[in-house]
Amino acid sequence: MFFRQLFDPASSTLSYLIADDTTHEAVLVDPVIEQTERDVRLLREHGLSLKYTLETHVHADHVTAAQALKRATGAQTAVCRDCNAQGYDLLLEDGDVILFGHEEILTIATPGHTPGSVSYLWPDRVFTGDTLLIGGCGRTDFQNGSAEALWESITGKLFKLDEQILVYPGHDYKGRRVSSIGEEKRFNARLSGKNREEFLAIMSNLGLPMPARIHEAVPSNLEAGADQPAVSRASEQWAALENRVAVQSVSARQLAEILRTPGIHLLDVRTPLEFGNARIAGAVNIPLDRLDPAALLASIGADALVYCVCQTGTRSQLAASALRSAGFTRVVHVDGGTNAWALAGLPVARGAAVGA
Ligand SMILES: [Fe+2]
Repeated sequence: MFFRQLFDPASSTLSYLIADDTTHEAVLVDPVIEQTERDVRLLREHGLSLKYTLETHVHADHVTAAQALKRATGAQTAVCRDCNAQGYDLLLEDGDVILFGHEEILTIATPGHTPGSVSYLWPDRVFTGDTLLIGGCGRTDFQNGSAEALWESITGKLFKLDEQILVYPGHDYKGRRVSSIGEEKRFNARLSGKNREEFLAIMSNLGLPMPARIHEAVPSNLEAGADQPAVSRASEQWAALENRVAVQSVSARQLAEILRTPGIHLLDVRTPLEFGNARIAGAVNIPLDRLDPAALLASIGADALVYCVCQTGTRSQLAASALRSAGFTRVVHVDGGTNAWALAGLPVARGAAVGA
């Protein structure tokens, strides 16, 4: 895993560079144009190939480096479709999965700060942009912001994630760099112990000045390149996140031991292509977007022992949550997925997908 948190002092923007260790493909979340040289140098120093720049929203306080990095590296530019921005290569929607190397990032629509604000979930951390800040949240008094939508996004989506998930925000003005879902639930001054009405009252009385660069930044960020969408969409169902509950997990090595036990259902929720390339022997392939928990429940019963696996552990967590929500009582997901399985030197099978 390659991960760097980067900071632009002028706008207090936090950007995030993530890369796959084996293929060296990388993505950069919320790049800042003034930091393009730094970012290109960093990519070169580490031999990384930038595949995507990902915007959490159309920013009002800085200009994105999406165009500049596209020119410098060929990286495709991505923003949420609901931003109504022009010229980005990829227009993301809720549930879209961004693939780079063996890594995957899940797009979570979190409107409120702006209608097109999204968060990006990468196995144990979430990049929240201006939706959820450390101890606070983004303002909602311009760019068609909505405090009501922000409340729903934070309490209905982000706060339903596992409490251990790390929160990496789009800004921090006090030198803080990382938090967690659990910490924000307990200590966020605008949200902890507040009900919806109290939150709305706080948001309507912030009295903040307009960002200094808003008239430059917003028009510029609404136009960031041109190409056509090619993102891999996995269509994860929101129900999986909305009903997310703590899911037990095992390591790949533990799974190898467990699979000696008869009666285990090993559910591989990747695409048939991924499944055919390399899979764990005995796994049944049901891609996440085709998973019907109720039908599976009727087929194998609530007490069935089900292990969910994917490539890195993101989709399998969603699948496991969906199964638990449907009534399964013994669901486990495999940390690190088939990547961890292969890295542990465990045997890999190849061949066509088996439907179920
Ligand atoms: Fe913002």
